[in-house]
Amino acid sequence: MMSCDAAMSIRLPPECETPLLERFLKAEAMALWTVRSARLQDVPPNVYAFLRQHEEDEQQHLAQFETMIGRQPRERKRLPTVPQQWPALAVQLYGYESLGLEFATLLVMLRPDLASIREDELVHVNFFEREILRILRGEAAAAEQARVSARAWWRKLPRTVDRYLEGAALDPYRPVLAERILTILEQRFRTTGLFKGMTSDDDVDQA
Ligand SMILES: [Fe+2]
Ligand SMILES: [Fe+2]
Repeated sequence: MMSCDAAMSIRLPPECETPLLERFLKAEAMALWTVRSARLQDVPPNVYAFLRQHEEDEQQHLAQFETMIGRQPRERKRLPTVPQQWPALAVQLYGYESLGLEFATLLVMLRPDLASIREDELVHVNFFEREILRILRGEAAAAEQARVSARAWWRKLPRTVDRYLEGAALDPYRPVLAERILTILEQRFRTTGLFKGMTSDDDVDQA
């Protein structure tokens, strides 16, 4: 839908590589667990089929980061809770994959050899984007549920992004990177129509 390449014109120094890799270890683990959790929900058949491939991709990404960092992410006793209703779950998957894509775009600046991870994230984002569009054009109640979920997810996003950008080396870049990521995601949500029908833009502007 839009090119994210042009958005990341900022140059990160090499010392940002380690905190980004550390962050990816956690984020890829979370992505994998979320997909596993999503596969246990009642989702449309085409989504179920895609999630199998998606899980394989995230498993492979995680293995790559484990090899690079030389350790595994912390174990988890339970899979993360995901929404049971498909429109809400679709928003969550779309949102986190979109966020993952922006981080992969950052990472590839420092590690062009990891470009294939970014390409996979783009496939994931595009798949869920098509599903979101399908939901928004479908039944009114489902579309409304997706929009309500999108607003709720959006309100938590700034804190999530700051957490993703932890690390002293990233301190000087955090505000500009966070703002850019939020702007790109907001554009995405607007373009797909997830923010349509809001009584005011306050929710979004405050975030
Ligand atoms: Fe991934
Ligand atoms: Fe992904």
